[in-house]
Amino acid sequence: MAALPSSLQSPSSTFSPNPTPSASFRPPNPYFQSVEKRQQQGWQSLKMSAVIRAEIDTSLSPRVNSVKPSKTVAITDQATALVQAGVPVIRLAAGEPDFDTPPVIAQAGINAIREGHTRYTPNAGTMELRKAICHKLKEENGLTYAPDQVLVSNGAKQSIVQAVLAVCSPGDQVVIPAPFWVSYPEMARLADAVPVILPTKISENFLLDPKLLASKLNEKSRLLILCSPSNPTGSVYPKKLLEEIADVVAKFPRLLVLSDEIYEHIIYSPATHTSFASLPGMWERTLTVNGFSKAFAMTGWRLGYIAGPKHFVAACGKIQSQSTSGASSISQTAGVAALGLGYAGGEAVSTMVKAFKERRDYLVKSFKELKGVKISEPMGAFYLFLDFSSYYGSEVEGFGIIKDSESLCRYLLDKGQVALVPGDAFGDDKCIRISYAASLSTLQSAMKQIKEAIAFLKPAVHA
Ligand SMILES: Cc1ncc(COP(=O)(O)O)c(C=O)c1O
Repeated sequence: MAALPSSLQSPSSTFSPNPTPSASFRPPNPYFQSVEKRQQQGWQSLKMSAVIRAEIDTSLSPRVNSVKPSKTVAITDQATALVQAGVPVIRLAAGEPDFDTPPVIAQAGINAIREGHTRYTPNAGTMELRKAICHKLKEENGLTYAPDQVLVSNGAKQSIVQAVLAVCSPGDQVVIPAPFWVSYPEMARLADAVPVILPTKISENFLLDPKLLASKLNEKSRLLILCSPSNPTGSVYPKKLLEEIADVVAKFPRLLVLSDEIYEHIIYSPATHTSFASLPGMWERTLTVNGFSKAFAMTGWRLGYIAGPKHFVAACGKIQSQSTSGASSISQTAGVAALGLGYAGGEAVSTMVKAFKERRDYLVKSFKELKGVKISEPMGAFYLFLDFSSYYGSEVEGFGIIKDSESLCRYLLDKGQVALVPGDAFGDDKCIRISYAASLSTLQSAMKQIKEAIAFLKPAVHA
């Protein structure tokens, strides 16, 4: 048993309250007796709790120790705390549409409760929703799946982590182009797999070079994760480039592809979306992930899905059946209504996409006016990933040196009161991410504050 700290040792050795009467002079006063008794009991329980505390093994599994917490969540929480403390911070860190869920979808959820759709559904999702997903994948993506090749989960995030856990053996490599969505490498680590990060260049719109991919693949490469349109860059992979990537993938029989298509509908002309599984020979080795959070503004409903060959999807389903079971029955009913809105979400979605495009255009134009900032114009999603590295090295009085994306974001939060996410969270420390899931007027205020804060850095930049 571990020794007690001296401060918790017996009262006779360390604690002599004065004036506590000694035993020989103790007056026959019940008050003093009860004080002593209470002291003894108090020490007894203190000793006990210290012993219990000393005996608890607070170590965590190496697996969880290897995982980094999400920086986007941390910054969002920090900004929210500042807002609650009365600081008028403009929050552009979260990856969440600022729109409400379209009324038709919300009403379907309300009806689901009223009509008693409040019980467990099959683990894989209701047949109605899985059929609707199969129909959508056929019509919009040219992909043929049967309902038993679709698994509905509590969000695309769950779909992805289950897929990584289902297909990776310890030591397998998960190949991830950077900048990446923060969770991919951590999911690989959770599966005892090794994330292999492939850098891309802003001058090439952050798109993966197939030659670089070919040079990094080997028999340990198990999963390539592609995200188009991309979070955090907004890049959209053209079909031709995906075909070149598919040619490389085809040479490695063990390699599977996870295609994260959650931003599929948030895309700006002339860009178009291509599902990786639709390319020749790729259906058999692709796991297509999608969800309702982004296009349908349904982040809180927690609904996503994976589609792929039955063998892999069933394995994901096995994990789900022993962890969360099926997604919420209410959300699934709402999901059917969402897919019933028409091709690509119909007018409800196109109205939101139009607003996103207007904001993107405004921000691209505004940031182009800022000296030293490099931009790759995003063609989808609702983020701008800006290279601010020419400002690194600047010193600001009262703040210190801006040495990386993290200190720049801290500076912009302190000085500009705008919350953005450092690029190092996404595997590119030169950049910072701004989410434009906020009204145009909010973005205009943010832009003004960013410009004012950045103006203090200019002399150092041009020095
Ligand atoms: C690229 C990407 N994939 C997946 C997800 C997960 O979405 P959800 O779990 O809300 O469906 C997100 C959310 O931010 C994302 O940006």
